[in-house]
Amino acid sequence: MRIDAILSRFGYCSRREAALWVKRGRVTVPGRTLKSASDKAEPAEVLIDGEPVEFVNGLYVALHKPLGCTCSHKEAGELVYDLLPPQWLNRSNGVSTVGRLDKETSGLLLLTDDGAFVHALTSPKKHVPKVYEFETSAPIPESAVALFASGELLLEGETTPCLPAELQNTAPCHGLLTLHEGRYHQVRRMLAAVGAPVISLTRTAIGPLKLADLHLAPGEWAEIDPTIFS
Ligand code: URA
Repeated sequence: MRIDAILSRFGYCSRREAALWVKRGRVTVPGRTLKSASDKAEPAEVLIDGEPVEFVNGLYVALHKPLGCTCSHKEAGELVYDLLPPQWLNRSNGVSTVGRLDKETSGLLLLTDDGAFVHALTSPKKHVPKVYEFETSAPIPESAVALFASGELLLEGETTPCLPAELQNTAPCHGLLTLHEGRYHQVRRMLAAVGAPVISLTRTAIGPLKLADLHLAPGEWAEIDPTIFS
């Protein structure tokens, strides 16, 4: 691949600016400083300011989403993308969240530039379980466990019932809910349907990946191995 194409593909600079980066000796391959932006190299062997090109085989990142920021590229207010290095957002494949969390939900959020990965994790057909920990302002009725597991709960305004979900009540107003799909405000709507409005919500796991194992403070991110989901 041409050097100017590599630099712009992975978000470092525009193709036009690449000529300057090369001229300043910022772009090397082992044993050689490149001379022209039209030189060719394998992205995996290119060094920029002595550092390898980031995420040459795709960007896969877990973020501990804090409360108060939105999973959107263009809404007003703080966005999850503001928490990431700006260079990632300039990658030609575009970085997006894998599904969304509400502004007032915190927890595990994946980001990637791989559309197939997004599909594999969000399609209800793939049944990747997502675990949510919640607190409610009223006690959760015992009957909610069987109702959520039945696959018969029809949310207001919808025509297909929710897929079976596992509810674990850990205290009268606290619990864990495992979903296998991702509908709009689903956890809040399911609990509201049984008279237990959610007052705090965190996603703690997606498939085998657990937020607690990542040791990330709110706002921090870490690279993940996407093959753990295959
Ligand atoms: N369910 C919700 O209600 N909100 C989220 O952010 C995720 C699941």
